[in-house]
Amino acid sequence: MNDLKTCIDDCNVIGLTKIHNPAGNITIIQNDGNLPFNVKRIYYLYDVPGGAERGGHAHKELYQLIVAASGSFDVVLDDGKKKNTFSLNRPSFGLVIVPGIWREVVNFSSGAICLVLASHKYDEDDYIRNHEDFLDYISK
Ligand code: TYD
Repeated sequence: MNDLKTCIDDCNVIGLTKIHNPAGNITIIQNDGNLPFNVKRIYYLYDVPGGAERGGHAHKELYQLIVAASGSFDVVLDDGKKKNTFSLNRPSFGLVIVPGIWREVVNFSSGAICLVLASHKYDEDDYIRNHEDFLDYISK
């Protein structure tokens, strides 16, 4: 049962705190109320071969913030009615993805690092990995 009834318009790119320094910048993400969730898990994708596609699933409860810590990639979001592509290429910006949204991550540049901050620990039961099941889930 999909109680949250989210849509793509609930997902947006946010600017992260950035400390400029000629010797190299710093971006900080912490549980200070500026994210719509508290961070419980961090993981990152790297060594992604050219042409590879990641994602291809939705989450029932998980919120995520996705950051291109290095390089670039596109995140294609789908709420069952509308699709939107977000190109991420700056480490001081992140895409917030709310639960109930199908996502695919494509067009990785060479050396890209896809940093993901998540609201919950890993739980396979939170995944919807079949698009038909996703459409069925959001319709209820
Ligand atoms: P998945 O989330 O499907 O990767 P992506 O969306 O980037 O394509 O995860 C790929 C595999 O890694 C899957 O077998 C589950 C495992 N995994 C964990 O064990 N823990 C985690 O925190 C994550 C993100 C994945």
